[in-house]
Amino acid sequence: MIAQRLVGKQVGRGAFGIAREVKATEKKFGKDSVINSTLGTFFCEDEKLGVLELVDKTYRELESPDTFGYAAGVSGSAEYKEAVKKSIFGTHCKEILENAFVDVASTPGGTGAIYTAFKGYGNDGNTVLLPEYMWDAYVHITGANRLNNTIYKLFDGEKFNTKDFSEKMLEVVKRDGRVLAVINDPCQNPTGYSLSFEEWKEVVEILREASKYGEVILINDIAYIDYDFRGRDNAREYMKLFLGLPENVLILFAYSMSKSFTSYGLRTGAIVALSSSKKVIDEFTVVAEYLCRSSWSNVSRGGMALLVKAYENENIINGINSERDKWVETLKKRAEIFERKSEEVGLKYCPFSSGFFLTIPLEENKDEIVNDLKEKKVFVLPIKKGIRIAICSISCKKLEILPKLIKESIDKFNK
Ligand SMILES: Cc1ncc(COP(=O)(O)O)c(C=O)c1O
Repeated sequence: MIAQRLVGKQVGRGAFGIAREVKATEKKFGKDSVINSTLGTFFCEDEKLGVLELVDKTYRELESPDTFGYAAGVSGSAEYKEAVKKSIFGTHCKEILENAFVDVASTPGGTGAIYTAFKGYGNDGNTVLLPEYMWDAYVHITGANRLNNTIYKLFDGEKFNTKDFSEKMLEVVKRDGRVLAVINDPCQNPTGYSLSFEEWKEVVEILREASKYGEVILINDIAYIDYDFRGRDNAREYMKLFLGLPENVLILFAYSMSKSFTSYGLRTGAIVALSSSKKVIDEFTVVAEYLCRSSWSNVSRGGMALLVKAYENENIINGINSERDKWVETLKKRAEIFERKSEEVGLKYCPFSSGFFLTIPLEENKDEIVNDLKEKKVFVLPIKKGIRIAICSISCKKLEILPKLIKESIDKFNK
């Protein structure tokens, strides 16, 4: 019965699927004896969902038309679009807006932004370059939009694999006259890797080279940008490199309020297009609005109003940022514990810089290892080439023992 293009498509169990098992185990044995590494949301040291207090207060103080009314404008209100630009570009905002054409369309979370990017810029049968360790929704969204994907190697030793990225990009653009590529950076999900400024310079050179052969669309998924250990300014510095690119290179940022403003359930985000060409951005403005109207119509007015209020008042946005900065300190501490304990027991993990996650590369006997960990009441998320450790949701105390438990399970099956 289902449409031909969707036959056989399914999301698999993922984090949401394992959640039920975790709950049942917690109920039976108590929360203290369970390690839940499946979630992509920030939990405080007391293992309660982290909600930024000033975000909560600002949202609650909105007038009811602002939370219950329809959004003003299909692709978001003008005020929301301005707030998104400030949130994305930070201290580089003025320079970027003066030297490029930029427009914004609101989307339901970062997921909606990725969906709009693929749907709006991928012709049937086009190829999207995706990283070898990745958020699996990218694959589903290509699948739902009649797109193919090609995987590029993420690492060359401890560094970003610019060589493989370049080879794959040139191969696709020479063949199809168009290429889409996703770079989830900073704080990549699931490895926590962030490209250095120098690595971004190399990527931008690759985009220039590829543009000699066709249209190049780079989707920069920045869902975790505000958790970069280098700080907000440094995390955004690379964005200046996107200025002055050829007119057939388009940068699309996938922006999300989910993590930065702990607004996961409000489903508010945006797709932000940046180009040297006014024509390209004018076209984006019209088509992004059309895509909103022909899918979710418009997004949560309350979510948008929250961001607007936060950026209208410096005290609010500064307060939110400093509250979040304390969590970044917690994440640093958790990462330090996990890395130290892993080194002590000889547990290998992918290059890590900052953010919510680390990844243990693992292919052989992965299911057996994951099940063995479940016996020890440890729930980790199996991903394509490894297992994901969510330091965002595990307390320091539990992280002290986690590497040893994982290493023992790996050693049991992989001699
Ligand atoms: C890499 C990445 N991008 C984007 C998102 C989008 O999240 P949302 O749709 O909740 O904004 C997520 C959420 O887990 C993510 O991990």
